[in-house]
Parts: sequence; structure tokens; C-alpha cells
Amino acid sequence: MLDVTVATATRRQFASDNYAGICPEAFASIVEANQGHEVSYGNDTWTEKASNLIRDIFETNCEVFFVFNGTSANSLSLASLCQSYHSILCHELAHVEVAECGAPEFFANGTKVLLLSGEHAKIDPQTIARAVNKRSDIHYPKPRALSLTQATELGTLYSLDELREIAEMARRFHLRVHMDGARFANAIAALGVAPKEVTWQAGVDVLCFGGTKNGIPVGEAVVFFNAEAAREFDYRCKQGGQLASKMRFLSAPWVGMLQDGAWLRHGAHANAMAKRLESGMRGVPHVQVAHPVQTNAVFARLSDTLVQGMYRRGWKFYTHVGAADEARLMCSWDTTSGDVDAFAADLKELATS
Ligand SMILES: Cc1ncc(COP(=O)(O)O)c(C=O)c1O
Repeated sequence: MLDVTVATATRRQFASDNYAGICPEAFASIVEANQGHEVSYGNDTWTEKASNLIRDIFETNCEVFFVFNGTSANSLSLASLCQSYHSILCHELAHVEVAECGAPEFFANGTKVLLLSGEHAKIDPQTIARAVNKRSDIHYPKPRALSLTQATELGTLYSLDELREIAEMARRFHLRVHMDGARFANAIAALGVAPKEVTWQAGVDVLCFGGTKNGIPVGEAVVFFNAEAAREFDYRCKQGGQLASKMRFLSAPWVGMLQDGAWLRHGAHANAMAKRLESGMRGVPHVQVAHPVQTNAVFARLSDTLVQGMYRRGWKFYTHVGAADEARLMCSWDTTSGDVDAFAADLKELATS
């Protein structure tokens, strides 16, 4: 017999913001959407409402598509910016490069991903110029797209000025700009700017707007600010297995998230929990915070003894995302100060025993 107490007693963890469940606002919309019949394949009222809310939030007439996950959102949107003989420039730690199993190259029919560098997972604009100017002959995969992640894979942020500098560089070299916004809500909550400022006004052609890590059960919104790039994207989604027949269940949670600002509240809460965790960890012997804590991630250098000790105490977290000695601790919409304090207390106890 199923022991339901196991699930309810499971401790909230810091391994991934995907560990969290569905937030109440998204859940309520799904329940509400589960009434009667609706037209399938995206021609339903929920999808229309969610798309319009996204247009309101970005204050522009963008084109919106709902897909199942971030890998498909990134891969299909990048494919729409490139031909197979082009290349996509991104940071060497970008999800597109290290965590999508080659899907961007696959869906773009072989477009090559070229790697850039920069501190704290942020692209150094000079590396864009170097990558583009490296070769201009016909034998080199012609750079055509630039992909950047906001917030980055290390939880850091591009400021508005940094974004503008990168976009300016992209414009100079005729690169289209893709933004992986798996944690876009955390970024906007932290920066406190209007979403349009870090996207279309800064020169972003397409944004993969993350819902899953923000509290939605499943799904990301691909938001095209460049209408030409969105041409026939619906066919690309269908061919890529990303056209949901019961689309209303992908789009309805967005209505719950966006209609009264829950997306920003949850983003800000997760960010605040990461800040609390950072202060709880600072000063603990043998622990060093490795990157600026600007959104919902804390990256810290921990000795292997400490890592193993925390694992033995039942904590789960990743050690494969940043440098080899860095642990990644992610906070979610439902992380509590109690969770944070319990983690920090265990770490302190182990480090001083
Ligand atoms: C920066 C970034 N982009 C995209 C994704 C989305 O990936 P998935 O295909 O697992 O939804 C993630 C998830 O970890 C991520 O961290």
C-alpha cells in the first residue's frame, strides 16, 4: 500500500529549484482550467489569456509559444535564428552548451556552438569580438546568434549596462540575441527593472521565459520580440514534439502566475532565501561563497568531508554545476527560513566538530 506520509514528510532540499512542487497560484488556475471542453492545440481561451498577459508584462506585441521544457525552448528558438552553417556563441558554462545533450545543434541541423568566457558565468563582451573576428573565411561556421542566460547558471546577473554593452556588440556583428530566461523571474525581481528593459529594448530577439523553476508544474514560454524570427515556429514546435494537444494545461498556470504578480513574489522570495543562506554560511570554517549571490543560488566551496557529512545528514545538493569544489544550493518559491537555518546549522556543526 502507498505510504502517503513519505511524500508529505520529505524535507525541502537545496538541490534544484525543480524539486519544489506547484505554487498555489498556478495550481488554482489548473483546477479552474479543468472545466468542460476547450479547443485543443493552443486555440483555447487560456492560451490566449496567458499570451496576452505576457504581452502586457513586456509592454509589446510579442509572439508567444508554450513548450514543455527549457531544453526545447532554447533549442527550437535558437534553431529559428540560424541556418545549419551558422554558429551560436554562448558562455562555456551555458545550459545550452553543458546541459542540453547537444539539442541546440541537433534541432538546428548541425549549427555549431562556439564558446565564450567571462567571470561568474557572464559573457565578457570582448570574447564576442574575438570569436567573430577569429575567422571570416567560408570554412568557418558563420556566427549568427548570441545566447546569454539571465540569471546565469551561477545565479549571477547581467546589469542593464552590461546587457546593453553585449547587445551593442551583437548588433555590431549582426548577431541575433537569444536569452535563456529559465530564471528570468528571479532576475527581474532582483534587478527591479521593467521586463522590457532587459529584453526587447536591450536588443533581445527571443526570450525563453522559464515557468518551471518559478512554480509552474511544467512548461516554458518562448517569447519572440522579433516577428520575423517567429515565422513558422509553430511548425518547428510540432515537428519537435512540443505542441501540446491539451495546451490549456501548459498555459493556464501562467495565468495564475502573471495575473497578480505571483511570478515576481516567488522570484523575490527565493532570492531572499538565498541571501539568508549566504549569511548563514559566511564565517563557517572551511566554507567560502564562490560567486556573488544575486538571485536564488548560493555557490560555495566546501571540503569533500563537509559535502559527505551533509549528504549523510540527508541534505541533497549538486556539486557538478560550477567548479569541481563548488556546491550549488538553490532556493525555491517554497523554501522557508527554517529550511535555510537548519541547513546552515548542520553545516556549522559539522565544520566545527
Ligand atoms: C539555465 C537553464 N536553462 C534552461 C534550463 C531548462 O532545462 P530543462 O530542459 O531541464 O527544463 C535549466 C534547468 O536546469 C537551466 O538551469
